[in-house]
Amino acid sequence: MRWFALDRGSSLPLTRQIYGELSSQILGGELRAGERLPSTREAAGELGVSRNVVMEAYEQLAAEGFLLGISGAGTYVAEGSRLGFPSRRPPGPGAPAEPEPSRAPGREEGSRACAIDFRLGRPALDLVPYRAWARLECEARLGAPVEALGGAEPEGQPELREALQAYLWRRRGIDCRPEQIAISSGALQGLSTLASLVLEPGSPVLFEDPGHVLAREAFAARGAAILPIPVDEEGLRTELLPRDSRPALAFVTPSHQFPLGGCLSVQRRVALVEWAREAGCLLVEDDYESEFRYDVGPVSSLQRLDPENVAYVGTFSKVFFPAIRLGYLVLPERLVEGYLSRRRLADRYGAPPPQLAMARFIGEGRLDKHIARMRRIYRGRRDALVGALEAAFPGRARILGRATGLHVAVRFEGLAFGPPLIESIRRAGVILHPVEDYALVKGSHSGTVAMGYSHLEVEEIERGVAILAGIL
Ligand SMILES: Cc1ncc(COP(=O)(O)O)c(C=O)c1O
Repeated sequence: MRWFALDRGSSLPLTRQIYGELSSQILGGELRAGERLPSTREAAGELGVSRNVVMEAYEQLAAEGFLLGISGAGTYVAEGSRLGFPSRRPPGPGAPAEPEPSRAPGREEGSRACAIDFRLGRPALDLVPYRAWARLECEARLGAPVEALGGAEPEGQPELREALQAYLWRRRGIDCRPEQIAISSGALQGLSTLASLVLEPGSPVLFEDPGHVLAREAFAARGAAILPIPVDEEGLRTELLPRDSRPALAFVTPSHQFPLGGCLSVQRRVALVEWAREAGCLLVEDDYESEFRYDVGPVSSLQRLDPENVAYVGTFSKVFFPAIRLGYLVLPERLVEGYLSRRRLADRYGAPPPQLAMARFIGEGRLDKHIARMRRIYRGRRDALVGALEAAFPGRARILGRATGLHVAVRFEGLAFGPPLIESIRRAGVILHPVEDYALVKGSHSGTVAMGYSHLEVEEIERGVAILAGIL
């Protein structure tokens, strides 16, 4: 293997640079099939990076089929990965610079361009096994019978509904028939369609505060009257559930409250489902990133406690990637027909090929493998963020919601993250997201920010916290 230099000033993460260089060497035939790669220890020493960085790059190359046997006795270049014609070189050190995107007028040079954005809920897109996925999707398209070009049903492809039935039983203890599963174009589309079925103008909708802004807006757009219910570090404060009104729907994120990160205790879950039955209120459980648990065992879904009154909403936006636009609902039996008629009215049905590819991806155990790998990587990133915050702000920063998900919430004693402070942090090269931005009733969370870590490398996380420490 030919050694190469990494560009530490580049905005391209180091893992991605190593991946780019090695995949180019393999595609171009410089690294030949059967050739052994240096161990991660040796490569880390040569390149001057941590072993984890090399390991992540090797794992990505293996996931895409470039490499074999990375965990056993050596790592080798796989057969058949040399390209017969010159390829456009993936970006990396030495690659010709991409043309600069035009900048918005007035934007400061150098700060935003390489800002470290602790945005929420973004999976590590550079670690998605995209080639393998594209191949599956292509096979689904090429293998379709000609009748499949004519249309599909609003509930989605039976293959995916069956694969999800087994997946949800195994992972979330959800016991349902495939007929209760409706495939959606992401969680938000499912929520909007459900809202069109159960809400009328003026219907009260109970909503976690702070909460998921787009979902709240989707309900409000259907004319709902939003009733904010405060959350604390354990999630929805069930002791504040209204006793004198009967909301049509309540939206909750019990596995990892968005954005404060609490996991709803079983006592609160029981209180919530009992209250909802009593009030005649449909519970909507948004289980957007429950697959990523680090310090806790599986917490069962709310749906499991009351399948007749909980609509469960899942998405592939976090476990895979957002642009896939694939999600699903598990509906109480009584809502299935009505929901499907609304979906038909909205946009008839979702495109079958990604659904068929996902059915295979799940059925062949590849989604489980991807989740296990990402959980390991995200845990490392979470540990880096928590460790850096604790070291930089001893006794001053309280970290909430660290056990699961792709972000934490951090409460800073004696601080208020108003626009001037957020702006000066941004000028220093870090973008922070105040929890107040997600709150309907303002004023209770001014010292708290939500920090997503899943898309950032350890080195970026540590650099971001060091910048914060310099300012705060
Ligand atoms: C709380 C929450 N639920 C669900 C989702 C996923 O939405 P979708 O599947 O429409 O991408 C998101 C995405 O950001 C989210 O923040």
